[in-house]
Amino acid sequence: MRDKVVVITGAASGIGRRTAALFAEKNATLVVNDINEAKLREVEAELVNLGVNVTAIIGDVSKASDVQGLMTETKERFGKLDVLCNNAGVWWPDKDSDVVHLEEEIWDKIISINLKSVYLCSKFAIPYMVENNGGSIINISSMAALRGWKNMDAYTASKGGIISLTKSMAIEFGKHHIRVNAICPGSIKTPLTEKAQEEVGYPSTPLGRVGLPEDIGKTIMFLASEDSSYLTGCIIPVDGGRSARQ
Ligand SMILES: NC(=O)c1ccc[n+]([C@@H]2O[C@H](COP(=O)([O-])OP(=O)(O)OC[C@H]3O[C@@H](n4cnc5c(N)ncnc54)[C@H](O)[C@@H]3O)[C@@H](O)[C@H]2O)c1
Repeated sequence: MRDKVVVITGAASGIGRRTAALFAEKNATLVVNDINEAKLREVEAELVNLGVNVTAIIGDVSKASDVQGLMTETKERFGKLDVLCNNAGVWWPDKDSDVVHLEEEIWDKIISINLKSVYLCSKFAIPYMVENNGGSIINISSMAALRGWKNMDAYTASKGGIISLTKSMAIEFGKHHIRVNAICPGSIKTPLTEKAQEEVGYPSTPLGRVGLPEDIGKTIMFLASEDSSYLTGCIIPVDGGRSARQ
C-alpha cells in the first residue's frame, strides 16, 4: 500500500476508523473523512502519531459540494486517488420503519447519507482514477440488503441500492481498470450497533461470535490490493456465515 492514496469516508468511528489504522500499518497515504469533526481530529492525531501521511477532511457525504471538495483536495494534495472506501452510513432503528409509518424526511435522509453518498463520492473520484488508469472502489452495503428486515425499510433499500450501483459501476468502468466491489457486513461490534447487539446476541451466526471492525477492514484491504486484481462487481458477505443460513 506504500504508494496508494486511500480515501475512507465515515472514518471517525467503528469500521472506518479501524480500517484507516490497518491501511496506516501498511504505509498507505490516507485521506480520512467524517461529518463529526471532534472525533475525526482524534483519529487524525492517532494516525499522525503512527507516522502516516494523512489528511482529515470534514464533510457531509450526502452534499455534492462537500464531496467534490473532498476529492479535489485529495488530488491537489497527493496528486492522485487510488482507493475509495464508501463506508459512511447511518442506521436509525428508532426512526426507520415500515413504508406506511416511515416519515418522508427520514426516508430522504437515510437514502441520502447511505446511497446518494456512494453516487456522489464515485462521481467525483472516478475521473481522477481514470486519469490514473485504475483504482479500486469498495462500497459498504449490509447483510440487511440480502434479505428483508422488518421496520427497517429505508436502511434495507439504501443498502440494496448500493449492491445494484456496485454492479453497474463495475461494468461501466472496468475498461479503465477501475474495480468496484461491495461488502455486506453482518453484525459488527461498533458504536452504531452496540445497543442492539447486547439485546440480540449471536445464536444465528454460525461462527458464534460478533464481527469486529477488523474483520471488515481486512476484507477492504484485500479488495484495495492487487491480490484481488480479477475481482469486480462482487458482493461479499462478511457475516460469520449468517447469510448462508436458510
Ligand atoms: N456495525 C454493523 O453491524 C454494520 C453492519 C452492516 C453494515 N454496516 C455499515 O458499515 C458502515 C460503517 O458503520 P459503523 O458500524 O462503523 O458505524 P459508526 O456509526 O461507528 O461509524 C459511521 C461513521 O459515519 C459517519 N457519518 C455519518 N453520517 C455521515 C455523513 N453524512 N457524512 C460523513 N460521515 C458520516 C459517522 O459520524 C460515523 O463516524 C455503515 O455504512 C454501516 O451501515 C455496519
